[in-house]
Amino acid sequence: MGALRRTHGAALLAVGALLLVLFAHLPPAPRPPPAPRPAPLLVPPSTPPAPSNRTVSTRASQTTAPPHPPSPTPRPKPAPLLTKDVYVSGHERPHPELCPALGAHLRMLVLITSAPSHAEARAAIRFTWGHYAARRDLTIAFMLGTPPPDLRSALVAEDELYGDLIVGRFRDSYSNLTLKTLSMLEWADTYCPRAPRLLKTDDDMFINVPRLLQFAAAPTRANATRTIWGKVVKKSYPKRTTKSKYYVSPLQFSGKVFPDFATGPAYLLTTDVVRELLAAAPREPYLRLEDVFVTGVLAAKLHVTRRLAPEFYNKKVQAHPCTVQRGVAIHMVRYHEQFDLWRKLLDGKTKCAS
Ligand SMILES: *[C@@H]1O[C@H](CO)[C@@H](O)[C@H](O)[C@H]1NC(C)=O
Ligand SMILES: *[C@@H]1O[C@H](CO)[C@@H](O)[C@H](O)[C@H]1NC(C)=O
Ligand SMILES: *[C@@H]1O[C@H](CO)[C@@H](O)[C@H](O)[C@H]1NC(C)=O
Repeated sequence: MGALRRTHGAALLAVGALLLVLFAHLPPAPRPPPAPRPAPLLVPPSTPPAPSNRTVSTRASQTTAPPHPPSPTPRPKPAPLLTKDVYVSGHERPHPELCPALGAHLRMLVLITSAPSHAEARAAIRFTWGHYAARRDLTIAFMLGTPPPDLRSALVAEDELYGDLIVGRFRDSYSNLTLKTLSMLEWADTYCPRAPRLLKTDDDMFINVPRLLQFAAAPTRANATRTIWGKVVKKSYPKRTTKSKYYVSPLQFSGKVFPDFATGPAYLLTTDVVRELLAAAPREPYLRLEDVFVTGVLAAKLHVTRRLAPEFYNKKVQAHPCTVQRGVAIHMVRYHEQFDLWRKLLDGKTKCAS
């Protein structure tokens, strides 16, 4: 609040200064009324600059500035914001008990990014595919950022019931999704480093857990190392128009085309890359697109293999039982749809060819 007011005050000052500069350099001739010049708004008449005193306010010093209004372009060398300038490590609610023996007995760790206000989506997952958390070879938990104060007590209560909310040290927001994924990797590295596989997914996803386990255990994949599987996208171009939700400045990413990356809704990693990804992140320019950053930019630098797996639909699909049973990950699933998909997965009535 105080900071806001201060910013507001500073903005007013800046506007005042700008007006002063503009009016000071207007040629007197072309003004239609030859009458006295209107006094600039926002600048009290009692502030004549004291030219002898060099430490007067910026308002006065800008009055004596060169004719062109100050422009932000001639800065020396613009430097990108690096990830290490934004990321704060640690967890407010680490729940180390979620991974006994650091995950040594797990086949897979499933971490679901969620927002503090998405209590319903988390409930729907716990009531449906999240039930697989009862297995001793699986750990399933939600990853959140710092909640707004009004949601704090509800989250504490939810966590007391379920004990599955991990909270990182960053404000939860869409622009901070990359921080959420890094926080997830840090948690996996700290509290669950012996789990062999990590699935990163979101709270609007339906995950066919038996199919996922089968996918990971397939002979061609069981012994894989340094690999990310998912819906791998090639030849994706950064959006350079500032209006785009996916805008990326040349400072954040200078290349013409993104490295191949696995789209964010769900991707599976061999956990041998978790520490490497975390170690490579800090010196890279911060990129809001978490999937491009983690599975594209960082993975490409580290020569981590990215494999296209068509089972990761990562999009909304017609929920035919066989589609559900063949797929690993379905996107854009609303609360009630979780139950529909869950029933289609497990009703035992529909026989699908393989
Ligand atoms: C300039 O003005 C400020 C505020 O009135 C005063 O504290 C300062 O001593 C002055 N400096 C000089 C060089 O006159
Ligand atoms: C992202 O998180 C940081 C650290 O908590 C915070 O300072 C920043 O305001 C957040 N950004 C947005 C857009 O919420
Ligand atoms: C994977 O590794 C295990 C243990 O080293 C070995 O028994 C198994 O045959 C390997 N599987 C494949 C498909 O190479």
